Amino acid sequence: MSQKYDLPKICGFVPSYHELKANKRYLWCSCGLSKTAPFCDGSQAGTSFKPVMVKGQCDGQEALFCECKHTKTPPFCDGTHANLEGGYQQDDPESPVNAKIQQVGNVDDALTKLDNGCVVVRPNRLDKKQEGTIRWCPLVTHLEGAEHQTQFYAEVGQGQSPQLLAKDVEMVIFVFEGSGSIALAGKSYNLLPSSGVYVGANESFSFDNPDEAPLKLYITRCPGGEATSLVFLDDREKGSIKTADDQDEKASEKRVAVLDENVRNAMGDRFWQILVDESYGADMITQFVGHIPPSKAMPHRHLYEETLIFKSGQGMVWTLNQKTPVGPGDVLFLPRKQWHSVQSFGPDGMMVVGVIYPGNNPGINY
Ligand code: FES
Repeated sequence: MSQKYDLPKICGFVPSYHELKANKRYLWCSCGLSKTAPFCDGSQAGTSFKPVMVKGQCDGQEALFCECKHTKTPPFCDGTHANLEGGYQQDDPESPVNAKIQQVGNVDDALTKLDNGCVVVRPNRLDKKQEGTIRWCPLVTHLEGAEHQTQFYAEVGQGQSPQLLAKDVEMVIFVFEGSGSIALAGKSYNLLPSSGVYVGANESFSFDNPDEAPLKLYITRCPGGEATSLVFLDDREKGSIKTADDQDEKASEKRVAVLDENVRNAMGDRFWQILVDESYGADMITQFVGHIPPSKAMPHRHLYEETLIFKSGQGMVWTLNQKTPVGPGDVLFLPRKQWHSVQSFGPDGMMVVGVIYPGNNPGINY
């Protein structure tokens, strides 16, 4: 006789991390009754639940198995846990543990290094180079420990900019301030504050700024490699770049994303909206915008590398042993698996813009 359960039973609100073995089969417990969670021990007998099998693709394959049992992508976490009752917990910045954490750096520093490779960069404190109408500087490169992305800050002055090239990489661009247009793949696209832009590999692009106020941009290339410079096109290279007529067949017409509150995703009391992702043709780069209300998240980690641009508001970046203040324009670089949390001050909270690589879901953490 089948027994009635209030199933699935939630085993936890954080996924569990495992490294799989090549060709080994794993049975994930979907009912939550297993004593060997996240793996099945047969306890589902008498219920309508069945375990879900997954086979390791290679030795060391990293997996985050869902422990809340409500994922829509079983057996792996999809971030649903954060929206279950009790699933999103906040941290107390005044707790005895947090009270011992020392502040390092301040808002006048160009760069603050925190533990385990976490870095905060403040572009308004960095020297800039000039190329035509573009003043620019590197923000996050392999020199800061980045393995998967390189990020630059650029201010485009009035008029037509020189041409740039996404040489052998894909790029995403975020419009921090100002408006204008970008010429890309043979077309012109309007740019508004908080627009996101996708640039395919080996495409050239240029900006037109009709205003006196600069167009302030964050330009991220993935993979990052050892680049420390934007690539400006000279006449010798102009014949080798892609034009509108020789784009890849997969190339999307979608290039510029704008804020749209109808496509927001909730994560506890926060929200985020994807700007650029694979639907734009991006290969494992995801650019998103998010809001952090006045609060401090619990410390957590991600499997992807991330840069987080602080768009508005004031806050504090915490690692497990240090903390540093951040404000508009600053960038936080997080290596993979870096413990961190962001505290937001003030009534309006903070708006942030993230670039994750490789990854497609900013809602997954562990
Ligand atoms: S642990 Fe279930 S969705 Fe994340």
